[in-house]
Amino acid sequence: MNIKQKRIILTGATGGIGTETAKLLAEQGANLVLVGRNKERLEQLKSTLHNPEQHLLIEADLTKPESIDFINNTCLTWRKQGIHVNALINNAGSNRFAYLAQRTPESIEKELQLNLISPVLLSQKALGWLERPGLILNIGSTFAAIGYPGYSTYCAGKAGLHRFSEAMQRELSGAGIQVLYLAPRATDTKLNDQRVLEMNKVLGNQTDKPVTVAKAIVTALKQEKTCRWLGWPEKLFVRINQIFPRLVSSSLRQQHEKITEFASKLP
Ligand SMILES: NC(=O)c1ccc[n+]([C@@H]2O[C@H](COP(=O)([O-])OP(=O)(O)OC[C@H]3O[C@@H](n4cnc5c(N)ncnc54)[C@H](OP(=O)(O)O)[C@@H]3O)[C@@H](O)[C@H]2O)c1
Repeated sequence: MNIKQKRIILTGATGGIGTETAKLLAEQGANLVLVGRNKERLEQLKSTLHNPEQHLLIEADLTKPESIDFINNTCLTWRKQGIHVNALINNAGSNRFAYLAQRTPESIEKELQLNLISPVLLSQKALGWLERPGLILNIGSTFAAIGYPGYSTYCAGKAGLHRFSEAMQRELSGAGIQVLYLAPRATDTKLNDQRVLEMNKVLGNQTDKPVTVAKAIVTALKQEKTCRWLGWPEKLFVRINQIFPRLVSSSLRQQHEKITEFASKLP
């Protein structure tokens, strides 16, 4: 897709990856709809973007069904007014690094709601107002393909999002909407607390800058790349885990004590 003057909805716009993505897309001429929970942060972000007057804001907590309805109704109203949406980037996400036994049912539900249910519901609504040709880009994670201790529910949500994207890409064949999936590896944003940063250092896990992921998001939109895993050697581990999961299990067993130590600390 040529993103110049295209209207693109970006959820999680005020987060680490979202902010860098908004900046790049705006610089390249896209008109954005920035979605986030905090109005001031959204306004602040908008004021720093290229052509700020071109961008629209939606304040929404995506774990609430009424927020999905609100976004849907807003887009339907805009459509009647001649504001057409060409792409949706489901980027909002969260996780909590902890073993399952330490989690509350509420935090598990909220995480799955945000990482899996909300992009699924928003994609469904988007079928009613996305322009054809149109794009839906779902932001996943390396952890969609590699079950990692301390991230069981995050892995579950992102793996679900991966399969959802693949199924929808096939379901919508010939319908004028491409459904893409991009999976970053560890990235330096507030998503990862101090324990995770330290653990990644100790275990030698590489961390990308948010702008690196933002560039990959823009490229995925432009090239309409169906699925991309970011980072080397992570993309190799993704393949190895598909074919020889025991190898990855054995390597993670050697790190288990360290991972347990960090997961047991207070955030
Ligand atoms: N950072 C990593 O290591 C990493 C690795 C792989 C994949 N990813 C994925 O990349 C995406 C962006 O993450 P990030 O690293 O930029 O994290 P981040 O800096 O923590 O940003 C997360 C964004 O999600 C939004 N969000 C959280 N809860 C929400 C809710 N209930 N309703 C609406 N929005 C909500 C936040 O909005 P507010 O500004 O309103 O809080 C924020 O904009 C996520 O899908 C994440 O899973 C990240």
